[in-house]
Amino acid sequence: MSDRNIVVFASGSGSNAEQLIKHFEAVEDISVSAVFCNKPNAYVLERAKKLGVPSEVFDRSSFHDEQFLNRLQKFEADFIVLAGFLWKVPEYLIGAFPDKIINIHPALLPSYGGKGMYGQHVHEAVIANKEPFSGITIHLVNENYDEGRTLFQAKVAVGAEDTPDSLAQKIHQLEHQHFPVVVEDYIRGLR
Ligand code: GAR
Repeated sequence: MSDRNIVVFASGSGSNAEQLIKHFEAVEDISVSAVFCNKPNAYVLERAKKLGVPSEVFDRSSFHDEQFLNRLQKFEADFIVLAGFLWKVPEYLIGAFPDKIINIHPALLPSYGGKGMYGQHVHEAVIANKEPFSGITIHLVNENYDEGRTLFQAKVAVGAEDTPDSLAQKIHQLEHQHFPVVVEDYIRGLR
């Protein structure tokens, strides 16, 4: 653990979690102290294990119980970074980490945000609507999903030949390139 610790929350494959872990391995005063996951079979747990980062699996009832804060305290969490985490964050947790929870969304918010808009559903909707652009949004989490202050956006062109899968690949590339850097800048007070 470091001067400042990030706990990464993820629900799925965890490619962003992996990029965050690798980025902060090379940063002296900030580290990823744990990966928290709500899906016992998620691939992110394998990635964390391989990278030597401890992980915790939790269910919905423990997530909604304030005792959950003790589990975060065990890893000295200063910041929470949501990297493909698909549950709404309960208010007590937002209250305990004011302006210290960062999310990444695979579209240009406020478009393609809100309930049901996550992961592949976002890319399917963007393609179905023949949008010329999509992108990523990195933002703070407040009580209204997908509506906290935007820290960073990047755009990518959507071509006529793009499918939800090819668009997802482009978006992942953008995420991997920018997410760890934006998180570090924010922690350092630069955004
Ligand atoms: C990412 O594209 C992330 O933006 C998205 O889930 C994917 C997770 O990929 N998050 C959301 O849709 C949140 N609303 P990963 O597991 O490979 O990092």
